[in-house]
Order: sequence, then C-alpha cells, then structure tokens
Amino acid sequence: MIYLIGFMGSGKSTIAKMLSEKTNYPYIEMDQAIEETEGMKIRDMFAGKGEQYFRDKETEFLKNLKNDVVLSTGGGVILREENRALMQEGTVVYLKAEWETIMERLTGDTDRPLWKGDDSEKKKRFDERLGLYEQAADVVIDVDQKTPEEITEEVVGRLK
Ligand code: S3P
Repeated sequence: MIYLIGFMGSGKSTIAKMLSEKTNYPYIEMDQAIEETEGMKIRDMFAGKGEQYFRDKETEFLKNLKNDVVLSTGGGVILREENRALMQEGTVVYLKAEWETIMERLTGDTDRPLWKGDDSEKKKRFDERLGLYEQAADVVIDVDQKTPEEITEEVVGRLK
C-alpha cells in the first residue's frame, strides 16, 4: 500500500496515477471514492453534514481498505491521529510543496471547501499542518519546480 499525502494542490492525484502505472498497483482517489459511496460531492457534504461527517468517512475508508493500492488521500487525512496510525500499515509518501507553489496552483479554485478565506487564513491552515505531514511520512519528496515525471521517478527510487 502506498499512501500519498500532502496539502491541497501538492499533486497527489497526478502522481498517484503515474505511480500506479509504474508499480501496477491500482489507483484510488479517496475523495472520489467517498463521493461515490455517499452519492454527494465533498463540497455539499461539508455544507450539509459538516466537516466532521466527512472526516468520519475518511477514517472509515482507511479502515476498510483491503487491497494493495496507490491511494491519493485528501489533504486533511493527517489531522486525525487514528488516520496517521492506520496509514502506518503501508508506505506514506509526503509530497512537500512550498506555500508559493500551492498558491500558484490553487488561485481561483472554488471547489475545495477548505480553500477559503483570505490568504492569511489559508497560510495558517498550511502552517498548522506541516508538522503533521512530516510526522505521518515515511518518505518526504520536495515537489517544487519538478515535473510530474521527475517526482514519480523519485518516489519509485525511494520505495526501493
Ligand atoms: C481537504 C482536502 C481535499 C478534500 C477536502 C478537504 C483538506 O482534498 O479532501 O476538501 O482538508 O485539506 P485535496 O487535498 O485532494 O484537495
């Protein structure tokens, strides 16, 4: 099992797809799987049922994961200690991006419920999570200024 973690916009989905091709493990996008099970968009889940409901679904998903896959997680999966412990069962790869990279990529994004407020609010969320990503990670990959191909190669090299 390979878990990809990192802040929103760090490239988890792109790299997970490419890693899946390289490793032959199937690829799962956790947000998408939760949306399918719940029959609801994450945005609507946050609005209608609240963040904690979504967080419960994340934990449930991790608990029920049976097969070896490349899992692209949601950026907040590291918030719960229980999730961090569950992921220790596999290799946790942290795609580490600088704040500037995230800002560049997510400017104009209106889909993500927690990418909201003014820049200082967003930066605060980013800063608050840095330690948790580090804590959960087995492998840390700096992604700034690298192509998806370069990042994928680096991950594959570090998995050996
Ligand atoms: C979240 C990140 C999102 C999604 C949800 C909450 C977060 O996933 O799970 O909107 O708390 O950082 P991405 O990291 O794929 O954007």
